[in-house]
Amino acid sequence: MELLIRQETSADYTAVFDITQKAFAQLEVSDHTEQFLVERLRASDGFIPELSLVAVCDGKIAAHILFTRLYIVTNDSRHESLILAPVSVLPEQQSKGVGSALINHGHEVARGLGYSSVVLVGHKDYYPRFGYKKLSGFGISIPFPAPDECCLGLELVPGALQNIHGIVEFPPAFLPH
Ligand SMILES: CC(C)(COP(=O)(O)OP(=O)(O)OC[C@H]1O[C@@H](n2cnc3c(N)ncnc32)[C@H](O)[C@@H]1OP(=O)(O)O)[C@@H](O)C(=O)NCCC(=O)NCCS
Repeated sequence: MELLIRQETSADYTAVFDITQKAFAQLEVSDHTEQFLVERLRASDGFIPELSLVAVCDGKIAAHILFTRLYIVTNDSRHESLILAPVSVLPEQQSKGVGSALINHGHEVARGLGYSSVVLVGHKDYYPRFGYKKLSGFGISIPFPAPDECCLGLELVPGALQNIHGIVEFPPAFLPH
């Protein structure tokens, strides 16, 4: 399979909507509205065009990933970070390394842009392979109930999440509309 990863353009929006809808369609933990989350995040303050990426497999868009800026808030400071959400691979292209390639590529782009960490709420058995660790281990919490092992963070720069004892401030785009 020929795999190309590039920045999303507005010409990709329809395909990305379709991919996101199909990727999450069978997922029990999903409310099946992630395609609208992508639209809200694109329109939000924290949107970073360089971190909305598509994977083109044999000439066809097959996957999408989005990292959006947010802040981890402590008693006296705000630390810029990113949230990975969502990542979507068309069902027929899953388990072929496409999701991993998108995640690793996204991390490199994010590091190049100067970001030092990523947080997410997701599959506990998938993200540790990329270096994600429990947020609770860093002393970081999220403002809604979720299994501890699914609330994860990655230091793109070693030590970036050390000594930040705070709460992840989710952008309003994450609230159900
Ligand atoms: C999760 C997802 C992004 C992974 O991308 P992918 O291209 O299918 O995965 P890769 O080929 O990179 O990696 C395959 C590995 O991921 C594992 N994996 C895939 N989905 C998983 C899940 N939901 N939970 C745990 N592991 C998962 C596979 O078992 C496989 O493991 P192995 O390498 O030990 O055999 C993709 O399957 C997808 O879009 N799923 C539906 C939407 C979704 O769940 N998005 C993430 C929300 S947190």
